[in-house]
Amino acid sequence: MPIQLADAIETRNAQGIAAGIGRLITAGDLPVGTRLPTVRALARELDVSPTTVSEAWRTLAAVGAIEAMGRNGTFVRQVPGPGAGQRYRRVTEGPGHFAVDLSTGTPDPALLPELGPIVAAVGGQNLTSSYLDPPVLPALEEALRRAWPFDAASLTVVDGAMDAIDRIAQVVVRLGDRVVVEHPTFPPVLDLLDQLGAEVIGVDLDDEGISLAGLDAALAQNPSLVFLQPRAQNPTGVSLSARRARAVAKLLAGTSAVVVEDDHIGDIASAPPISVGTWLPAQTVHIRSFSKSHGPDLRLAAVGGAGDVVDALAERRLLGPGWSSRILQAVLLAMLSDQGTIDQIARARDCYADRRAAFAQALGTHGITAPGTDGINQWVPVADERSTTIALAAQGIGVAPGAPFQVRTDAPHVRITIGLVDDPEAIATLADQLAAADHAAGRPAGRR
Ligand SMILES: Cc1ncc(COP(=O)(O)O)c(C=O)c1O
Repeated sequence: MPIQLADAIETRNAQGIAAGIGRLITAGDLPVGTRLPTVRALARELDVSPTTVSEAWRTLAAVGAIEAMGRNGTFVRQVPGPGAGQRYRRVTEGPGHFAVDLSTGTPDPALLPELGPIVAAVGGQNLTSSYLDPPVLPALEEALRRAWPFDAASLTVVDGAMDAIDRIAQVVVRLGDRVVVEHPTFPPVLDLLDQLGAEVIGVDLDDEGISLAGLDAALAQNPSLVFLQPRAQNPTGVSLSARRARAVAKLLAGTSAVVVEDDHIGDIASAPPISVGTWLPAQTVHIRSFSKSHGPDLRLAAVGGAGDVVDALAERRLLGPGWSSRILQAVLLAMLSDQGTIDQIARARDCYADRRAAFAQALGTHGITAPGTDGINQWVPVADERSTTIALAAQGIGVAPGAPFQVRTDAPHVRITIGLVDDPEAIATLADQLAAADHAAGRPAGRR
């Protein structure tokens, strides 16, 4: 082994050793799990000091390419590859086409505010004078800051919450870092963390948000990022209570973890805006998506909080898309102060709350207790995911299997976007169909 390594190392300083070994790992010549020689053995082989090899090892460990396991030795770690990340696709990959597709997690188009008149009003503006203009329209930044749940050191606008999460993760998470997420959580976040080579720690939720005991234990592993959904958590529908947010902030204070909050649901949540940033502004990055409230095709989310992270994100983005369409920003700005839009979003919020409550109540009559109180999705425990999704598909109804949302294998669930069902009778019928499918799959019949 030392002979092979020596051949690959062109420059015999710490950087050259790290680069040479990195190339061997990337090429697959040093497969995952390979035990590397001891520092002393490699130093002898290369005729350098052990300090030089130690420094190279530190560099490789810092990017997560290798891992020291104490007396057992130092090993090559898993490198993420293009094959990683298949959960997201499985969410809507049902057994066929559905008359009623409730697997999507999307808002009801009939409840979105009307775009036409507002688009027409902003259409003719010339909004860009230079590619180096500030990425956010100043008036939009003002409006966003007025509604922001804490005083954000920096704020920018990107193309949706997932764009924000992707870019924040690129700034904060290095190969091999630990990242805390709620369990269960939104599948593409898990796919993304797989791609980055992060080690995911899933922490359970209760009806006030992330479990404090679970978070406390996870923080002992020194994560670089804690990912939370403050309102209408997808898939569970749990909204973080103010009391829990404060306790979370207390646990995180003094750690080096960055808190990333994905307020994906925005103003159609029944719960008020909430952020750990109220207590930890320098450690929190809050994301507000406008997809569910104003429309997914606006493709806009605001990101504000910890200046080091948000500024690094914006700087890097300058070398890519640069900014999010100022035409769409102007549309959003107009919508934020348009009374018709504000009223429509309030109506949508009430409708979603009614639909969700009606479904939970109907499930209750079948003895099925589902968590959460907020948003457009219902997370429903079932006896068997596969047979339930197939039985519902046979009746033309698509629901999402629960497995892609789960960090670890847990009790089977399905996620149903109940916010898409506008008819109270259809909601009651769906609960009957689900209970029957679940019963056929093995769950004892509940109360009637
Ligand atoms: C938790 C969560 N985050 C992010 C997103 C994506 O939001 P956006 O459309 O803003 O990218 C969704 C969409 O369903 C979501 O549920």
